[in-house]
Amino acid sequence: MLRFITTGESHGRGLTGIIEGIPAGLSISSQYIDTQLRRRQSGYGRGGRMKIESDHAEILSGVRYGKTTGSPISLFIENKDWKNWQDLMAVEEVTADIKRVTRPRPGHADLAGLLKYGHDDIRNILERSSARETAMRVALGAVTRRFLEEFNIIIGSYVLSIGGKGFNPYEMKDIWHDPHKLLETFKKAEASEVRCPDDSLTLEIKRLIDQASEEGNTLGGVFEVFAINVPPGLGSHIQWDRRLNARLMHALCSIQAIKAAEIGAGTLAGISKGSEVMDEIFYDPERGYYRRTNFAGGIEGGISNGMPVIARLSMKPIPTLKRPLRSVDIASHEPVEASYERSDVCAVPAASVIAEAMLSLVIAQAFLEKFGGDSIEETRANYNSYLRMLERR
Ligand SMILES: Cc1cc2nc3c(=O)[nH]c(=O)nc-3n(C[C@H](O)[C@H](O)[C@H](O)COP(=O)(O)O)c2cc1C
Repeated sequence: MLRFITTGESHGRGLTGIIEGIPAGLSISSQYIDTQLRRRQSGYGRGGRMKIESDHAEILSGVRYGKTTGSPISLFIENKDWKNWQDLMAVEEVTADIKRVTRPRPGHADLAGLLKYGHDDIRNILERSSARETAMRVALGAVTRRFLEEFNIIIGSYVLSIGGKGFNPYEMKDIWHDPHKLLETFKKAEASEVRCPDDSLTLEIKRLIDQASEEGNTLGGVFEVFAINVPPGLGSHIQWDRRLNARLMHALCSIQAIKAAEIGAGTLAGISKGSEVMDEIFYDPERGYYRRTNFAGGIEGGISNGMPVIARLSMKPIPTLKRPLRSVDIASHEPVEASYERSDVCAVPAASVIAEAMLSLVIAQAFLEKFGGDSIEETRANYNSYLRMLERR
């Protein structure tokens, strides 16, 4: 069983993550993880915070001489900004007069969290609800990405639109069934500051982000995340909580500010005829079973079907606005402007990298459930034997 957990506050000492269940013998390094952390930190429209933090994951356990031992792997990412926050984020009681945050920001966990946990300082909520936590998800996701690479499973993403500008949500449907085209699109997205696989749209989107910034406003967007070379047979139809599509939705919708997730045709399926959005089955002695379309997004009946796994996510605009929204002070109950902390104008490109991490964590979980193995060698033997079985079918 592969499981993971993160801890840490946005301006605390740092983030910690533990992942357990990665087989022994997998090559992994801090440098590999840091490459993914850098991808999360880039992207046009990020706020000042990203300029302060240049994330580095320290491997604290579970790896020896560059290879996993089979023990839990723990990671630590320092918050470089912490030194400026030592009083505000002290673990021990402090004598200094600490200014409480009392103006909840709409669109955040601020007010609901405060009511739920009985605090009188919103900082106790916002420090953990912040998307800073996703740096650790990306680090843990990098470990599973490395694991999946051993089996040629590749994860990627590209941004379709930001602030309504870009591709229509289903415009890429003709590439969903083609791993080569997906990889090509991913490569183009990697070269774009907004992770959009089109040069002129990239320029237009950057202009839109500049405009939003000048107006004190923020933008959301839509992006697609995919996994290719996923074997048929991950997840199961036999129980609600084993369905791969449902597990994916859970993981992807757990990302801060993600308001909708679709697998394959998603909402398009609901407004189409049956003949328009099913993937007919063909057989060729060389290729075996195959499809010419991938409206199912690689999952049928809760089971991966061997086609690329495709999910599309919609991220709401960043809720902290320089031109603040109306709120109510929790001490006086007077109307006030919501508090403003240094904030992103648009974090859609970063969110797509975080979604890649969540996708790779879920696929790795399902993969290890199916193939098991305490060492990579054992997992590989099990996997190869399954592939041989499939060849005979
Ligand atoms: C990568 C990333 C960066 C974000 N940066 C900010 C930010 O700078 N300021 C902000 O107010 N919200 C930011 N958000 C959004 C909030 O974290 C999110 O809206 C908030 O936690 C409320 O959660 P909910 O929208 O899921 O309900 C970011 C989200 C992500 C995924």
